[in-house]
Amino acid sequence: MRVWNSVEQWVERRSALSAQTIGFVPTMGALHRGHAALIERCRAENGIAVVSIFVNPLQFNDPKDLDRYPRTMERDLMLLENLNVDDVFVPSPAEMYPQGCRFYVEEASSTAIMEGLHRPGFFKGVMTVVLKLLNLVRADRAYFGEKDFQQLKIIQGMVNDFFIPTEIVACPTVREPSGLAESSRNALLSAAGRERAGSIFQVLTSASTPEQARTQLEACGFSVDYVEDHWGRRFAAASLEGVRLIDNVALPAGTRP
Ligand code: PAF
Repeated sequence: MRVWNSVEQWVERRSALSAQTIGFVPTMGALHRGHAALIERCRAENGIAVVSIFVNPLQFNDPKDLDRYPRTMERDLMLLENLNVDDVFVPSPAEMYPQGCRFYVEEASSTAIMEGLHRPGFFKGVMTVVLKLLNLVRADRAYFGEKDFQQLKIIQGMVNDFFIPTEIVACPTVREPSGLAESSRNALLSAAGRERAGSIFQVLTSASTPEQARTQLEACGFSVDYVEDHWGRRFAAASLEGVRLIDNVALPAGTRP
């Protein structure tokens, strides 16, 4: 496994990889079983498996959130080695934004709700960095988790509208036994909080309306940003112990808005 810190060196390596299919999993590190599932699929479906680790400052509207985002580089690299990844791209912010950020990608409809509304600038940061990464890696396929379903939809839209020749592959959410969706932020919860946080999934799958789900989450001690139905799915963002968690589930057929 080779680790690349510079854009220039990565671009040189990339130009030597013309004959094989390339799969790509972009991450912000603090890797967990959800990432491992994306990487295993990427590894199985492509000749070369590339992973990026970049905690993108542009997608954090709160500097405190950026500071406390978990960073576990040594452990991440060991995991990637065990998963037989070929190349890991680990650029610094100066490599990714050499002139600061002069150009942004923005979208006007899917980003106006849920995460886009509650985290101003978040999707602008995500789309901008994902466009840069897709252009650098020029993968045949890139793998994204359905846990971040709104992000997945927006990236699919961007790739489509900008004619980016990378197939976006959607992968199912990986859950803990309690139902809690795997997320780097779970590491910030206490053991008891982590167990209790599984109720987001249970409430999303059992409540009959978003309003009922909100009431039930509040009764479990969550501070709720939203519960909303879109694209045949029910979405929630809620905080426990000061840790903001998101999740979504497919609505049963017949109840879809
Ligand atoms: O989902 C994430 O981890 C990030 O938003 C991504 C896609 C790696 C862009 O920074």
